[in-house]
Amino acid sequence: MTRSLILGGTTEASTLARALASAGADAVFSYAGRTEAPVAQPLPTRIGGFGGVDGLISYLRAEKIDAVVDATHPFAAQMSRNAIEACARAGVPLIGLQRPAWRAGEGDLWTHVDDIDSAIAALPDQPARVFLAIGKQNLAGFAARPHHYLLRLVDAPSAPPLPDCTVLLARGPFDAAQDLALLQAHRISHIVAKNAGGAGAEAKLIAARSLSLPVILIDRPKLPARRVLAEVAEVMAWLDHPADLGV
Ligand SMILES: NC(=O)c1ccc[n+]([C@@H]2O[C@H](COP(=O)([O-])OP(=O)(O)OC[C@H]3O[C@@H](n4cnc5c(N)ncnc54)[C@H](OP(=O)(O)O)[C@@H]3O)[C@@H](O)[C@H]2O)c1
Repeated sequence: MTRSLILGGTTEASTLARALASAGADAVFSYAGRTEAPVAQPLPTRIGGFGGVDGLISYLRAEKIDAVVDATHPFAAQMSRNAIEACARAGVPLIGLQRPAWRAGEGDLWTHVDDIDSAIAALPDQPARVFLAIGKQNLAGFAARPHHYLLRLVDAPSAPPLPDCTVLLARGPFDAAQDLALLQAHRISHIVAKNAGGAGAEAKLIAARSLSLPVILIDRPKLPARRVLAEVAEVMAWLDHPADLGV
């Protein structure tokens, strides 16, 4: 039977883990260990980095892994790059499981930028009230701008991440009606977000559309060529497991 390694940290990875567990598959789930209480998985789980490409190759060999599913967040580019190189060098098949990027529709006021620095530069010069929906990493640069920031984080920070900010603790998936109320309650004028894709994180964009709020959307980092599937059922088929997703 194929023994697979699932690189997780996303809703899709958790859905895949449930499908694999229900199929009785031999699989290990891997978390980076960024959050204090990661969602429990119905598969044997390991937590923490592998130690770069060489560490991942050693892990694949030691654990006799036959296939790797990279179901990390589209912005977890280092892990994805490491997986591409390690799997190529170790001769282990790799598949990406990734939701498609969001695309602007009627009524969206989106500015696309390449990276965090461009997002900081795209904010207005006058003080604004910004929903900074990019997680806890890469916040420091926003302190140089004269804005109030609303942050939505999974874990409580030990110190305020920015001089002028409100921190809200919550874990997705989120709901468009609740995000609409959130934007109104905090009198948000701008949103900065990563183009993560998926339904649960899209709520803020749907809410922004209904309020005609400008969104600065950071494009996904570029990765070397690799095969990517968008659906858990497709990955189950790639792994040669029957896809019973009604679990
Ligand atoms: N970046 C985001 O916006 C975001 C949003 C939501 C969830 N996440 C999740 O949070 C985790 C960390 O994201 P990141 O952006 O910090 O990653 P990253 O910058 O791509 O990865 C940095 C290092 O963290 C370790 N790592 C990352 N994902 C791992 C995993 N699933 N299992 C074991 N080690 C992992 C690896 O360490 P070694 O080199 O030592 O192996 C990797 O080189 C990912 O699992 C991702 O799915 C990220």
